[in-house]
Amino acid sequence: MNDIFGTDTLLLDNPSAFTSARAHQPGALVGNTPVLWVSEPLAPAGRGFWAKLEGYNPGGMKDRPALHMVRSAEARGDLLPGARIIESTSGTLGSGLALAGIAHRHPVTVVTDPGLEPILHRLLAAHGARVDVVTEPHPVGGWQQARRDRVAELQAAEPFSWSPDQYRNPDNVDAYKSLAFELVAQLGRVDVLVCSVGTGGHSAGVSRVLRRFFPHLELIGVDTVSSTIFGQPAGPRLMRGLGSSIYPDNVDYPAFNEVHWVAPAEAVRTTRTLAATHHAGGGWSVGAVALVAGWAARTRPAGTRIAAVFPDGPQRYFDTISNDEYCAEHGLLDSPLPDEPDTVAYPGERVVNSWTRTTTVLDPRGAIAGATPQTHRNPQIDKARR
Ligand SMILES: Cc1ncc(COP(=O)(O)O)c(C=O)c1O
Repeated sequence: MNDIFGTDTLLLDNPSAFTSARAHQPGALVGNTPVLWVSEPLAPAGRGFWAKLEGYNPGGMKDRPALHMVRSAEARGDLLPGARIIESTSGTLGSGLALAGIAHRHPVTVVTDPGLEPILHRLLAAHGARVDVVTEPHPVGGWQQARRDRVAELQAAEPFSWSPDQYRNPDNVDAYKSLAFELVAQLGRVDVLVCSVGTGGHSAGVSRVLRRFFPHLELIGVDTVSSTIFGQPAGPRLMRGLGSSIYPDNVDYPAFNEVHWVAPAEAVRTTRTLAATHHAGGGWSVGAVALVAGWAARTRPAGTRIAAVFPDGPQRYFDTISNDEYCAEHGLLDSPLPDEPDTVAYPGERVVNSWTRTTTVLDPRGAIAGATPQTHRNPQIDKARR
C-alpha cells in the first residue's frame, strides 16, 4: 500500500533505500541529525526556518562535546585510562558524558542541583553515572558556582579524576564542527543562525565554521531573563539549559549580531505551539529559540535562509512544560505571546523581564565596572587553551 508520499511502496520494493545507521558502539550514533522546516503559526505563511533537531542524538546536542572533550583529553594525556570524569551540568552534558563514559570506559560523576528533572536523574543513573546533587546555591554565583565548587571538592578527593569544565574548555566549542558541516550539507546556504546560550559552546562553534562558508552569516543569541551572560543581573531562573549565573569563557561575544532575552511563559507557549503544529518537541531552549527564529523569519527579507538549533527533545519536560498543573502553578499560560520583542539600546539600560532584544552585545566582564569573573582556573584547561 502507498502512503501519501508514495514511500511505503518504494521502501518495501527496494530494501537498499533504508539508510539507518549501524553502530558497533553508541558514540557512533551521534550526529547526522535531521532538519525540519518550521513555518506557520510561528512564522508567516510562506516563510519559516530550518530547525536542527539535536534531540535525535542518543542523549541530546551535548553528546557531541562530551565525546570530543573526552577524546581530546585522552589524546593529550589529561584523562588517564579508566579515570573518573566529574562535571557540573544542568542535565544535557551529563547525558552526553554518560554515553562518552560507556564508549571510552570511564566512570562518570555528574554534579547537579535540585532543579534536575527526576526523569533525567533516573536516566543518568540507569546509564551508569553517579549523580551528586548540591543542596544550596552559592550566594553570588548561584547553582552553577555551587556545582563547580562541589566538582573541585570531589576532584580533590579523587587524584586521577578529570573534569571537562565545559564553561572554559575550547574542545566544547570545537566539537560543533560536525554540526556546522551537517548544516552546510543539508541547507546549502545559511544566512542567519539562531542559538541558545548556556556555556556558549554551540553558538561559538557552529558560527565559527559556518562563517568560513558564509562570511556574512548573522548570529542571533538567545538567553533567558535573569541570566548574567549578556549583562543582565542574575536572578532565580525557571528555564534550564540556556542562561547562567556566571560568565562562561566559551561565550564568543564578538560573534553575535544581536541577543534576545526570553521569559519562561514565552518559551512555554512557543514550545507547546511547536509540538501541536509541527510534532517537534523540546524544552525551554527549544521554545525560546523557536520564538526568536520565527521573529527572524518575519523580519528578514523573504528568501533569507534561517537555521535554528534545537538542543534536545521533549521527554525530559513531560512534568514541567507539558504539565498543565506545573504551568498553572508558575503562571506560564496566563498571557498571550507577543509578536515583537521590546528593544534596549544596550544590556545595562534596564532589567528585562520579558522578551527583549539588543544589538549591542558586550562582554559584561569588561562592561560592568568591578564585575568579577566567577570561573575558577583549571590547570588542565589552561594547558588546553594554550
Ligand atoms: C537543553 C539545553 N539547551 C541549550 C543549552 C546551551 O548550549 P551551550 O552550552 O552550547 O551554550 C544547553 C547547555 O547545557 C542545554 O542543556
